[in-house]
Amino acid sequence: MLKTKVLKILQETDGYISGQSLCEMFGVSRTAIWKVIKKIKEEGYQIESVQNKGYHLVNSPDLLSKSEILNHLQTEILGKETYAFDEIGSTNVYAKELGEQGKAHGTLVVSETQTDGRGRRGRSWTSPKASSISMSVLLRPQIMPDKASMLTLVMAHAVLKALDELKIGQVSIKWPNDVLLNEKKVCGILTEMSAEPDMVHYVIIGTGINVNMDSLPKDEAPYATSLKAESGKTFNRAELVARILFHFESSYDTFMDTEDLSNIKEEYNRYLVNMDRKVCVKERKTETTGIAKGITDDGKLLVQLDGGEMKEIFAGEVSVRGIYGYV
Ligand code: BTN
Repeated sequence: MLKTKVLKILQETDGYISGQSLCEMFGVSRTAIWKVIKKIKEEGYQIESVQNKGYHLVNSPDLLSKSEILNHLQTEILGKETYAFDEIGSTNVYAKELGEQGKAHGTLVVSETQTDGRGRRGRSWTSPKASSISMSVLLRPQIMPDKASMLTLVMAHAVLKALDELKIGQVSIKWPNDVLLNEKKVCGILTEMSAEPDMVHYVIIGTGINVNMDSLPKDEAPYATSLKAESGKTFNRAELVARILFHFESSYDTFMDTEDLSNIKEEYNRYLVNMDRKVCVKERKTETTGIAKGITDDGKLLVQLDGGEMKEIFAGEVSVRGIYGYV
């Protein structure tokens, strides 16, 4: 797309770039460049045009647009096909539709807001406009369906790495897939799958992050936060999406080699907020307590029960004392 390419050049150029250079670079007319610059300005970019000098990008808005994401991407495959929306019901639902249509592995769906955002266990998920990230990645892993849930932990690890790079506080993971900042939830992940008993058709990993909200609603504030609420800073959301995809892609490749989490287990466990802390494991009918001892290669949580016995927890909802209560 010409607009994405021109924007990239403007973002990479310190001073001015002449209209003529842009025409030559992309083999298009002056009118085509002028039209593209007009479109870019309409999106909220501040561009100075000076006669005999050319164009200079003064300021970029924080947009979760296709151009912004593509221009920040450092991946080989993930996000190369991106669908960006101002508003959508749920990026997961849209990504599933793309999955059914046969769209490629690595396709990304992002939206500035969701009107019907979905959380785990039938809960809803709020994605405030222009200050949160709602993203879903369509994957086509050739693995057995029972291994797909591990991909949720791979994504949690990737988000953790991207947030840790920001150096704005203590980042951790609440097993299996909540990412916390200063022990409050900033990110939730919902993985959905279409499969036959012995074959995965596709997996959707949906990630929601609270980024530039000043604060969270009163009822959520004790347990949830945003990057801005913790640091007072605002963050470029497209850049963050690109960093997450970058980390996810490299961990995904090693995951596909081993089909387990052995490559990230150690790091995951280092950031595990549950580690050596009392956990309450709520399964369908039972509720047990013990001390969490980290994850296994296949993503289960090892818990030393009060009686001393070690138990591997698969899909229970774990609550940690002191970590946003027993949510
Ligand atoms: C959770 O309950 O913690 C998981 C929340 C997952 C929210 C994300 S936002 C992007 C994607 N689209 C959805 O509808 N849900 C996920």
